[in-house]
Amino acid sequence: MNRSVTAFAPATVANVGCGYDIFGFAIEQPGDEVTVSFSETKDVRITEISGDGGRLPKEAEINTAGFAVLHFLKKIQDSRGIDIQLKKGLPLGSGMGSSAASSVAALASVNRLFNNPLSKKELLPIAMAAEKLACGAAHADNVAPALFGGFILIRENDPPDIIELPVPEGLFCTIIHPEIEIRTLDARRIIEPYIPLPDAVRQWANTAGVVAGLYNNDPKLIGRSMTDHIIEPRRAGLIPHFYEIKEKVIENGALGCSISGSGPSIFCLSTSTVIARKLADQMKDVFSRHSIICQTYISKINTVGARILKE
Ligand code: HSE
Repeated sequence: MNRSVTAFAPATVANVGCGYDIFGFAIEQPGDEVTVSFSETKDVRITEISGDGGRLPKEAEINTAGFAVLHFLKKIQDSRGIDIQLKKGLPLGSGMGSSAASSVAALASVNRLFNNPLSKKELLPIAMAAEKLACGAAHADNVAPALFGGFILIRENDPPDIIELPVPEGLFCTIIHPEIEIRTLDARRIIEPYIPLPDAVRQWANTAGVVAGLYNNDPKLIGRSMTDHIIEPRRAGLIPHFYEIKEKVIENGALGCSISGSGPSIFCLSTSTVIARKLADQMKDVFSRHSIICQTYISKINTVGARILKE
């Protein structure tokens, strides 16, 4: 029987407020699933995509899952054909690392199909290249946490220097995804290329504060250090009622709140499931009052990352 492998890769929260392109963490659910098997043909084919409303391309070269498999084969110098089935659990253009979840699930499954010739560290540059295909920049703050799990610092992109930071036990993430689509490419274009030094100083102090908070298991320090003086003010205008939501959750016990990745999803951190649920309801309330359809997700930080579901 033709062997097949199915892998899951989770949604991720990139930037985490102050850490544009350098911080990201994984959550438990939702995520994408990719199943791969050896093909009877010599080609890499995407045979099925579900959950995308028919919007993703099926040509392997321009789909992040297909692209990842093609580049994996190139790297291991194997020319066998592969069939790929992609099950999208993540909404497109949501700021929850949708393209990253597809490429990482594809890499995890195809690597296992070939009995793990590459380490996660070796898979990472392939996933970053897929990210460049999806949004024009090979940023690693979604793909790295999707692959490794946990809370990741990207100290350097080229060559990637990925640091797995400690994850405090009692940290909960609430995400709200309003059904508005923002393309990462567009959300990156509106960012100023140069920033005033005083803003830079406050920003790098905060990134250090987040790292110190993670190492010292200090949720309050993590929360107050998440503040983003540079990117969030530029992007907030893309997300209706962003500041109303942020104010509300901070008043009601969130440690910190910001845009998830390039948006439109908004996330906040808290210290219990009870608070995380309450914050989800409050966020939902704002969007519902303005007739914006939305979904909420509550999760601990996922320390495992991509995993094999079936083989
Ligand atoms: N760091 C990237 C950005 C993440 O903010 O553009 C995209 O999900």
